[in-house]
Amino acid sequence: MPNIQDKVVVITGASSGIGAETAKVLASKGARLVLGARRKDRLFRVVGELRESGGTALAEPTDVTRFDEVQRLAQFALDAFGEIDVLVNCAGIMPVSPLSMARMEEWNRVIDTNIKGVLHGIGAVLPAMKERGEGHIINLASIAGHQVFPNMAVYCATKHAVCALSEGLRKENPEIRVTLISPGMVATELTESIELEVYRKGFQEAYLRQAMTPKAVASAITYAINQPPSVEINEVVLRPTSQEV
Ligand SMILES: NC(=O)c1ccc[n+]([C@@H]2O[C@H](COP(=O)([O-])OP(=O)(O)OC[C@H]3O[C@@H](n4cnc5c(N)ncnc54)[C@H](OP(=O)(O)O)[C@@H]3O)[C@@H](O)[C@H]2O)c1
Repeated sequence: MPNIQDKVVVITGASSGIGAETAKVLASKGARLVLGARRKDRLFRVVGELRESGGTALAEPTDVTRFDEVQRLAQFALDAFGEIDVLVNCAGIMPVSPLSMARMEEWNRVIDTNIKGVLHGIGAVLPAMKERGEGHIINLASIAGHQVFPNMAVYCATKHAVCALSEGLRKENPEIRVTLISPGMVATELTESIELEVYRKGFQEAYLRQAMTPKAVASAITYAINQPPSVEINEVVLRPTSQEV
């Protein structure tokens, strides 16, 4: 039995890439979407496209590094639809630099976005989900949450943290479904968050050769949501077939 029709799904990081594609796939299956990200023009463009195709979608500009803004996004969804069935914590950035450069501002930004952003999402929806006795939280980690790559230690640390938080969330809340999605290379705008050109170019070349489409990740998220309430997909790891690491 499909289990997506009419579900209220809040997605952070929905202005591009995996978040936008997931919104598209879920809207086509009858979910009601509430989208958050910082770039208003891109966010509302996604909403416009979803509505043009007959989907139900709203957006609230949101910076996930701020708990008050993520709370506002959750409240916006509750006011509009009365409940939140699923939260997809998708917002993220991927800076690349060796630890020896001590890029403290960059480290703070990636920690604030990738770890605190996920915590802000959990904190904004979990109490109401627990009160209702059901809900589904989907966190975007990465294969960088399962191994550590040189020059990416801080990004990898944030994704390891997302793995740990997801496991804790699952163990503490048996009534809530928790899913961790760990993709390899996906063709999105993520490499644009690499500030140092020397690394950005290398990554963009590798992504051009190998990356899978965001649709592949959207399918994995859709699969997890579509399970019957008694089934929790805990983790999906997916890579482009040709990706070795
Ligand atoms: N692409 C990959 O190879 C890959 C692999 C593994 C895991 N992932 C993970 O997948 C997730 C989505 O990334 P993507 O590949 O789809 O990249 P993307 O196209 O760059 O999307 C990232 C999204 O995060 C949003 N975002 C960034 N900082 C934010 C903030 N402070 N507040 C709110 N939204 C913020 C961006 O929107 P605004 O800039 O408009 O705010 C954008 O919508 C990330 O968590 C990433 O780590 C990606």
